[in-house]
Amino acid sequence: MRKPVIAGNWKLYKTTDEAVALINGLIPLVKKAKGVEIVVAPVFTVLGKVKSAISDSPIKLAAQNCFWEEEGAFTGEVAPKMLVDAGCSHVIIGHSERRQYFAETDGTVNRKIKAALKAGMTGIFCIGETLAERDAGKTWEVLDRQLTGGLAEIPAKSLEALIVAYEPVWAIGTGKTATDDQAQEAHAFIRGALAKLYSRQVAETTRILYGGSVKPENIKGLMAMADIDGALVGGASLKADSFAAIVNYQE
Ligand code: PGA
Repeated sequence: MRKPVIAGNWKLYKTTDEAVALINGLIPLVKKAKGVEIVVAPVFTVLGKVKSAISDSPIKLAAQNCFWEEEGAFTGEVAPKMLVDAGCSHVIIGHSERRQYFAETDGTVNRKIKAALKAGMTGIFCIGETLAERDAGKTWEVLDRQLTGGLAEIPAKSLEALIVAYEPVWAIGTGKTATDDQAQEAHAFIRGALAKLYSRQVAETTRILYGGSVKPENIKGLMAMADIDGALVGGASLKADSFAAIVNYQE
């Protein structure tokens, strides 16, 4: 059984006071959530404060990025073991905004995934096609390339600590969600690709999240799809009530 995951990606939002207010507002609202893993990904500077706030709750902490080296002369970077030290169990890797604005490639994503896994973290590995790629009929080719490149030399056993997030770039922050069927079609394709790269068993046990304008209004339909195992939520994770409504989609 694949336990659903609802992860909130806070992106470049929330100062300390705002982050603490958000997490303290969220905790009581998701207290009764059962059978769903809840993850929040704040900016680096507030990880410690958010960690303290969630210490008695089942909410897990993620970072939004990491570097692939453990330490060294790499000004401005943060290593996975430092994220673990700050209380993170998860890390988002290869988000489309990082690929788009910070020149991340399938190769760097691959190095980051390996480093995160080595540090004992769960990686949330993001893939997804742009609108131009979809319109050109290249969606499957792009997903295949991102999966193959991102997972190069990563053994099947490590996939236990990996979550895949399918985020069509055209649906991120645009209010334009993929339809349930579009998302399901892509998730089924990704599961098939994982079966080819690894095995049917790996494909059946790996969780695949959908991301891109997930809201309280569309989460139920998405979660009803056979291959959608959760959501990576941006905008709607910045308010306690909307994120809680997504976490509590089963109610
Ligand atoms: P969005 O962002 O929910 O605001 O579209 C999703 C993401 O980028 O992870």
